[in-house]
Amino acid sequence: MRYWFFLFGMLLLACDTDTGQQLRLASPFAAGDSIPHPENNPFTEAGILLGEKLFFDPSLSRNGQVSCASCHFPDRAFSDGVALSKAGVSGQPLDRHSPHLMNLAWADQGLFWDGGGGPLESMMFGPLMHEDEMGADLLSLTERMRQDEFYAQAFYEAFGTDSLLSMHISHALSQYVRTLVSFQSDYDRFLAGDENALEPLAKRGLSIFEKHCSSCHSGVHLSDFGFHNNGLDTVFQEGNEGVHLGRYRISGESADMGRFKTPSLRNVAITAPYMHDGRFATLEEVLDHYSEGIKHSPTVDITASFQLKKEEKEALLAFLHVLTDSSFLENPQLVLEMQ
Ligand code: HEC
Ligand code: HEC
Repeated sequence: MRYWFFLFGMLLLACDTDTGQQLRLASPFAAGDSIPHPENNPFTEAGILLGEKLFFDPSLSRNGQVSCASCHFPDRAFSDGVALSKAGVSGQPLDRHSPHLMNLAWADQGLFWDGGGGPLESMMFGPLMHEDEMGADLLSLTERMRQDEFYAQAFYEAFGTDSLLSMHISHALSQYVRTLVSFQSDYDRFLAGDENALEPLAKRGLSIFEKHCSSCHSGVHLSDFGFHNNGLDTVFQEGNEGVHLGRYRISGESADMGRFKTPSLRNVAITAPYMHDGRFATLEEVLDHYSEGIKHSPTVDITASFQLKKEEKEALLAFLHVLTDSSFLENPQLVLEMQ
């Protein structure tokens, strides 16, 4: 059986193979690349649609008012525009900034700003249950969904079982989140060989980016998914459960103090504010930081200390703007067609 999927303007091919269903990118910019997924959670059409429904449904939360989309807005590449969200059920500010969600199927060195979360299937229980996020009680949530005609049917179609478990909720959400794929910016068109896709200023910005930024913001994801200290602080406060200590919180290695995961810079022009605590409101502030504001500490990564001239900052800004993928932002809803 063959289905054609149209996703965010991109063509995806799903087919039954010996290894199960595959979702393949047939976009001209990432042709033939299939979206990675764990063996125990293959993509199904019903699973992705159910995951999408769950992502936007506030009834999953304890007070019926908070959904995943309360902190991950589709038109902001699934970030939320505030430094520290208070949108959770408790109304308390979170400890870290809500990151954008895209191309996470390829982020294989751990989720969260310190890489301490993942894989997606187990990470989902974090926001679902956290008292400052959705505060759900999984037992009563699954019980409620079993009684709900729509959800009982949708889970049956997605997973072929009447015994709905919280695992099925996390599997469906993970399938949906893996389909959030952004690869259609002007920069992608340029990479695919269209010389005219970038203006001269953005091309100049690209060469400055390659000199100063791409050691960490590398490759097609504009991230090495690794951990670095880019000079934000001199001392690292423990905060709530060590959230400001960076990768050290996970590894306990002193070399990891203050190191955070390199974020992808795709769609960065519309995902302000920036950094793990949302401390910079604009890209101009970010560039001023790299140029003039690096703070020294034992783990600071020296490749992040250089000075940028005014013209170089302008060119870099022009480059960061061509990373916006408007088709991803304009078509957040999954549209599925079968043939
Ligand atoms: C109240 C705000 C809030 C809600 C609600 C919320 N999130 Fe998040 N999300 C965050 C924050 C903040 C982080 C970063 C946590 C960290 O790094 O410590 C995050 C991180 C993530 C990540 C990891 C991204 C990465 O690049 O590492 C994923 C995936 C994610 N959330 C998906 C979801 C899903 C799915 C839901 C609904 C079940 C959800 N979130 C609900 C605020 C929220
Ligand atoms: C040594 C590695 C490294 C270098 C070099 C580097 N960055 Fe970063 N960048 C990071 C890390 C790590 C973060 C996240 C830090 C945090 O939140 O604590 C980051 C965050 C950012 C952010 C915020 C993104 C977001 O979603 O919050 C932007 C924008 C950015 N960098 C742009 C640049 C530019 C432009 C350059 C070159 C002028 C550059 N970076 C050079 C590692 C690096």
